[in-house]
Formats: sequence, C-alpha cells, structure tokens
Amino acid sequence: MCGIVGYVGRQDATPLLLAGLHRLEYRGYDSAGIAVIGRGGVKLHKSSGRIARLEATLPKRGVRGTTGIAHTRWATHGEPTDANAHPHADCSGEIAVAHNGIIENFAALRAELTAAGHTFRSETDTEVLAHLIEAAYDGDLQQAVREALRSVQGTYGIVVIDGRHPDRIVAARNGSPVVIGIGDKEMFVASDVAALVRHTQQIVYLDDREIATIEAGGFRTSTLDDEPTQKSPATVPWGFEAYDRGEHAHFMLKEILEQPETCERTLKGRLDAQFGTAHLGGLNLGARDLLDIRRVKILGCGSAYYAGLAGAHMIEMLARIPADAEPASEFRYRNPVIERETLYVAVSQSGETADTLAAVREVRRKGGRALGIVNTVGSQVARECDGGIYMHAGPEIAVASTKAFTSTLLCTALLALNLGRVRDLSAADGKRVVAALGRIPEQVRAVLRERERVRALAVKYMQHASAFFIGRTHAYPVALEGAQKLKEISYVHAEAYPASELKHGPLALVSPDTPTYVVLPQDDLYEKSLSSIEEIRARRGPVVAITQPGDESLPTKVDDVIVVPHTEPVLSPILLTIPLQLLAYETAVALGRDVDQPRNLAKSVTVE
Ligand code: AGP
Repeated sequence: MCGIVGYVGRQDATPLLLAGLHRLEYRGYDSAGIAVIGRGGVKLHKSSGRIARLEATLPKRGVRGTTGIAHTRWATHGEPTDANAHPHADCSGEIAVAHNGIIENFAALRAELTAAGHTFRSETDTEVLAHLIEAAYDGDLQQAVREALRSVQGTYGIVVIDGRHPDRIVAARNGSPVVIGIGDKEMFVASDVAALVRHTQQIVYLDDREIATIEAGGFRTSTLDDEPTQKSPATVPWGFEAYDRGEHAHFMLKEILEQPETCERTLKGRLDAQFGTAHLGGLNLGARDLLDIRRVKILGCGSAYYAGLAGAHMIEMLARIPADAEPASEFRYRNPVIERETLYVAVSQSGETADTLAAVREVRRKGGRALGIVNTVGSQVARECDGGIYMHAGPEIAVASTKAFTSTLLCTALLALNLGRVRDLSAADGKRVVAALGRIPEQVRAVLRERERVRALAVKYMQHASAFFIGRTHAYPVALEGAQKLKEISYVHAEAYPASELKHGPLALVSPDTPTYVVLPQDDLYEKSLSSIEEIRARRGPVVAITQPGDESLPTKVDDVIVVPHTEPVLSPILLTIPLQLLAYETAVALGRDVDQPRNLAKSVTVE
C-alpha cells in the first residue's frame, strides 16, 4: 500500500526513481511524485493519476540530481490530487518527505504547527512530518527526523531529503517496511525489494523504531533513542525476472500460469512418503507440542481468510481437531479468548497486512502461540510469529491473489497432515494424501489447459451484472474466493453462499440474468448440490458447474461444465479454485478492465 523509492549515488536519480516507482505501482497508483536535490535545492514534481502521468508532467530536460526520493500513493488522508501526492515539503522547501503508513495524531500536530506559523499545502497526515522536521532542524538532519518522530503516533516508513545535505537520505521505520539496497558507491532505499532488485541483490531491512542515514558510500543505523544498531546484509532470494511479467499480458495471468511451479516449490522437501507425513521444520513444534494442540484458529484477511476456511476444513478432516477461520481484521476488536492449547495460524501472502499483524500481536500479547503461513520471507508477520511455513511461491505482484491462495491451501494441507499423523490419521491414509499432494502440480497444469474453455465462458456471461457462487462445506471457501476474484478485477457484482443457504434468501435474486457458478466436487454431497442446481434451473437461472469426472449426465443438467481432475477429497479446493481464477481474469480482460491495478484497491493493506 503506497510505494517509496530513494536513490543516492553518482547517477542521475530521476530515471532510476521513475523505474523504481513503476515496479511499485502495484502497491498504490492514484497519484505519484518525485523530489530530487538539484543545483538550486530540492525540486518537487507531483501529479494525480498513474506514474505515466507524472512522467509526462516532468520538465523536458528532466530533473537533474544524484539524490532523490519518489512515491506512488494509495490515498488514505485526502483525495488523490496533485497537492496530496507525496513527497511533501516543509515551508522552506528544503525538506521533502515520502511516507507510508498513518500518522494517527496528525490533526493535533497540524493545529500546533499551524499555530506556530507553519503553512500547510495538502490535506495529508504526512505533511506534518515535513514541518515537524523543519521545526526540529538544528543543522543535523538525522537528529531532526528523530526528534520529529518522537511526537508522532502511528505507523510509518519514511524517507527524507534536505537540500542542505545533498549527499544523504534519512529513512526510518515503525510498522511500515523500509529496505536499503547496497550498490557499488550508490545506495537505494525502498518500501519493497521489487524496486531494488534490478540494481542490487544485497539488502538490509530496517527494524521498527530504527533510523538510517544513507549516503553513496554506506549507511549507519540507530534506534530512535540514538543507540547504534548493527545490520547484516541479506541476499534477495529471487532474481529480477521474478518481478517481471515477461511475455504475459498481465502479472495476474503470469501468476495463474505459474502455479504448477509454485505448488511444486511449496511442497519441495516437505513430503515424507515413507511415513505418510510432512516435514515442517519452521513450525518449531515437536511431536509432543503438536499433540497438546486441542484447537486450531486460522486468521487472515480477504483471500487469505478464504484460504484459511478451506485449510480449517482440511485440519478437521485429517487431524480431527476442531478448526475454524476468522477474518483477522475483526479478531482483536472482540477481545478474543486466547487459549493455551489453541494453535493460532496467521495467513498472509505479503506478511505486511496491518490487520493480520495486529491479530498476531493480540494472540501473543495474551500468551497464545501464533504460527505464520507467509509468502514474503522476513516480512513482519513472519518475524513476529513463533514459527511457521513459508509458501515459497515467489513474489506476487498482481493485486488479485492467485498463486498465494493455492500455496496457502498446500501449506494448510501439510500442517493438517502433520497434526493428523501424531493423532489418529493412519500411515496408509497419510501416504495416500502425500501421494495425492505429489500429483497436484501436474494436475494444476492439466486444469490450466482448460483456459480456452474458460475464456469462452467468460465471454458468454460477461454482460451479466451479477453472479452467484455456491458450494458446500469445503467447496464453499472456493465459491467465496471465486466471487472475490470476479468482483475485484472485473467489477461484476458477485456473491458467494453455501449451496444449502440458497433457498433461505438468495434464491429470490436468481433469474435468467444471474448465472450461478456451482463448485461441485464429486463427494458425499454431490447429489445434494444437484438439488440446489435444480432449484436454480427451475427459476431459469443459468448454471455453470466446476466439477470432477464421474457424472456423464451432468451436461444435461447444467448450462456449462468445467472438469478438473480427481484428487483426495480434502485437496479438491486446490484444483477447483483455478478455473475460477481464470474466469475472473478472462472476464476482466473481455470487459477491458485494468487487471493488475483494479480501481480502489492496492496490494498489501498496511493500514487499518
Ligand atoms: C486478494 O485477491 C486480495 N487482494 C486481498 O483479499 C488479500 O488477499 C488480502 O488483502 C490479504 O493480503 P495478504 O495475504 O497479503 O495478507
């Protein structure tokens, strides 16, 4: 949510900053800005709209300078206008600040600063930072930033430049990521490694309440209380190709099509065919700890929550432990009862989602044990959990999550196996599940071959303003995810219901104008789902079944059928999800939507 990039070195900063902004555009894209220290001090250019618009408004001869910062925004305080775009300057125009996060006490600070004679030019919370630094400035930029941050409540990842110190950027972090990229006599700073990987693989993450002064030749860090800190560089685990969409039209398509490989990576080295279990070293739990667990609660937001619902079902089925999932965004507000024998599992692709992080903190503050199922290595959720399972799906750039969803399902299946095999799941049943998991990557490849058929469906139904998605028990989270994908990127109104709930209300809206996508695994509830289909057909509602082989007569009972391969029943959500990802993608493309950057949304919701 919002992207920051900074450069200090010997090269012309502007093209580097703009290229970095493009890499971060998936995090926010309603306005953008750049500040570079040129001959006459800080030169600031800002524009509402996409980065391309900012580029078009820059002076023809460019903004020359070797130190600068830039920002792409997802508005929280104040509309996406030129004035509200970051960076923000102080009254003198010497200081420029770009910020991710929220300054909660900005209104009080703004009133104080205004009373002290400062003039504000935007409606943002961020601008108070520039004026606070100005007020605290006494010749030492880092000291002024430290001083300013003492008055601030809230979350921030910030970068600051000052025309009087053209050789440096000061950066600080509290709750919003800041990463320093180490180059050869040049340094980069960003909110996300995606902006840096073209230039360097050597990075350093700032910790919360840490501040850094970054110069071309190096950097030094300390706490906000002025205690020096030591940092060891890490190597980015992915090359820059992982952050490119290559020959694909969209990142979302690339990430959907990558799933055979991402599923393989999630499973790699973790399946134990001999004992019918999974090896999950990162859990930091021995067999006895696993045995003590009486309940599992999965916490996540949006698609991560839906994946958690499917995962909870897997855990109940394989381990026979009560398990459920809850939106992490609500969890902390209901003063949850935290139990010693409950295992809390936070699911997050980014590992940055503010609500999920807050749920983890709530669990741990009350003495509970939290594990993470996280994609981004070293992210805040991963760092704050007691242990966990990395997805290893590689960077997910499209706002609509796809490969992280299927990798989460695999991680929960591995956890379920692990919990099951220290309980009543027999070796024979465990081995069957392990063998089925081993076949998933190839089966995902087979489902992806249905793309053309799904494209035809998308075109057939794209003009319908509303759609229903239904499924029973573990097919219901798949329906939720299908509806979520469709509404996010195609803006078609879509709702998901348990198929059994249809006749308790939603059936009133079924008509020839409302297609229903039925997630229909071949399981004990197949016949019951057929009854729901009959109810829809009786109201002349079009029905599309996403199903598995076994019912030759199904095409006579529904309008369209997409078939995915058989697998173990608990694993079927993994395969049934993929046609719905393709459906959302193809619908959005057919409707001419901006697939990777849908309106009002951004990747990684790092604010409440
Ligand atoms: C998924 O398509 C959405 N963009 C969104 O629901 C997302 O899954 C959610 O915000 C959680 O993100 P996280 O996995 O990074 O925590």
